[in-house]
Amino acid sequence: MRDTILVTGGAGFIGSNFILDWMGHTRSRVINLDLLTYAGNPANLSSLEGGERLEGNARYRLAQGDICDADRVASLLREHQPRAIVHLAAESHVDRSIASAEVFIRTNVQGTFVLLEQARLYWSSLSAAEQPDFRFLHVSTDEVYGSLGPGDAPFTELTAYAPNSPYAASKAASDHLARAYHHTYGLPVLTTHCSNNYGPFQFPEKLIPLMILNALEGRPLPVYGDGGNVRDWLYVEDHCAAIRTVLENGCPGGTYNIGGGSERRNLDVVTDICDLLDEMRPDSAIGPRRNLIALVKDRPGHDRRYAIDSAKIARELGWKPAERFESGLRKTVRWYLEHPGWVEGVRTGAYLDWIRENYTERVAL
Ligand code: NAD
Ligand code: TYD
Repeated sequence: MRDTILVTGGAGFIGSNFILDWMGHTRSRVINLDLLTYAGNPANLSSLEGGERLEGNARYRLAQGDICDADRVASLLREHQPRAIVHLAAESHVDRSIASAEVFIRTNVQGTFVLLEQARLYWSSLSAAEQPDFRFLHVSTDEVYGSLGPGDAPFTELTAYAPNSPYAASKAASDHLARAYHHTYGLPVLTTHCSNNYGPFQFPEKLIPLMILNALEGRPLPVYGDGGNVRDWLYVEDHCAAIRTVLENGCPGGTYNIGGGSERRNLDVVTDICDLLDEMRPDSAIGPRRNLIALVKDRPGHDRRYAIDSAKIARELGWKPAERFESGLRKTVRWYLEHPGWVEGVRTGAYLDWIRENYTERVAL
């Protein structure tokens, strides 16, 4: 095995943050297997292209391809002999899974199966001395646990699965496969369940970047239902540090919940974004941006509350989030203000089609 990791979905939001973080903290080589769907953007990693070389090879390489393609995965493993796979590739947006679930089953379930199976074959071919050092880190979500009531205790690693959306169900299915590959074959699998991430490079279909860009331009801010749904926000750099920690020190077969300790109602998050933009980019033609908030028709099956208990990863691996929500949100708003070129690049025809499809029918309540 070489000091190389194979990252899947590394051109997406968390994946690109993770690769940048990993390259800054280690000397490893990174191979990024990404299909470059609408959510994958190689520009996120352009700072690495043509960058550092190790033993004559580029330290970072994008391998455009599909995790469902077993031959492609097998040949990448054979060629690069990685010591770990960090699996982030997925279809990740709940609203899209409600509109059309099939691709979620293909990528999240079938794709994870293909990766696990090819990882098992590769791992079996390693020497007895190398096998214990290999890791397959499967990045999952807190959404597999379903929805909490207002007084319920946060999700722990022992909370029963109760996925409610097609997205959550597809992630739950992939988690079960990951668990089975450890239990049955002994593949050294680690699984992480994180809460809602936010930060640079997030595709503006998700709540925080969508609201930042709409509010910046004085467009309506469509908050689903009564705006009282609660998410536990995790700054993406904290998540990247947690993945690094679990990869290096997690116990094979273990699952780790990763939360930001920042539960917020959607309406409060959107109001905070409005206030930050009024301060950082005041516009008299738009006026106070809170006036742009519109409560709209709810998402079907909308989970009311997510909250993560991160006690296990804190106790066993010493990780805790470093960023407070208020400072993380400020950094995020500033990042979108400072990267208009990136924003323009991702708002392509396919993006605009999705915005039309998801929001035209969502009339104000
Ligand atoms: P994203 O949608 O921004 O990126 C997904 C990436 O996967 C894209 O680069 C895309 O091109 C790639 N991809 C999709 N299908 C592929 C395929 N068949 N083969 C290869 N690559 C493919 O997602 P994200 O928000 O960065 O999420 C990354 C992971 O973290 C996902 O597994 C997601 O379920 C999980 N997660 C995300 C959040 C969050 O708040 N964003 C929270 C919890 C868990
Ligand atoms: P989202 O970013 O899609 O993440 P998830 O569904 O995985 O939690 O949504 C976060 C919350 O914001 C969720 O409760 C749905 C809500 N939401 C809106 O109110 N309006 C929107 O336009 C979007 C995209 C989300």
